[in-house]
Amino acid sequence: MSIRKIVTLPDPVLRRKARKVTAFDQELHTLIDDMIETMRAAPGVGLAAPQVADSRRVVVVEYAEEDEDADENRQPPKKLYVFVNPEITEASEEQETGIEGCLSIPDLVGEVSRHSRVTIKGFNRHGKPIRLKASGWLARIFQHEIDHLDGIVYPDRATRVWKPTAEEAETIRD
Ligand code: NI
Repeated sequence: MSIRKIVTLPDPVLRRKARKVTAFDQELHTLIDDMIETMRAAPGVGLAAPQVADSRRVVVVEYAEEDEDADENRQPPKKLYVFVNPEITEASEEQETGIEGCLSIPDLVGEVSRHSRVTIKGFNRHGKPIRLKASGWLARIFQHEIDHLDGIVYPDRATRVWKPTAEEAETIRD
């Protein structure tokens, strides 16, 4: 495994529509493993393949909902999700506004409205169909990452974008 370079705007690969994966082979597995390592090193809660300059429909997400009643070292373990050719098949009418950052857009954050709940269908690294129902931040992360596969970055959807204060900068980056 190796850490890949995260590309930033205005790199054109971030604006391209990524192509569907058709070969679930060792080369794909290497991409996925490198994406996981790159996401963890960044650190970030999610990464889409175009962010490592590979225009294929692959996202990785690693996240755990914070338990506000538990102290810092008793938090629920993070869960790793790998989706190949992900698609949002259902989305709640209800939306939520939150603050997002992106590893490909350093030093900025934005306020973005997203569906509160989504269902994501796709494939695992072996080509087996998988499905996930996500809500809250997890739903937001998936919407952000899947947007990357269509060449969309959060400022395209943001109501405002700004340079964060140090405290705001602690917000989740993906
Ligand atoms: Ni991003």
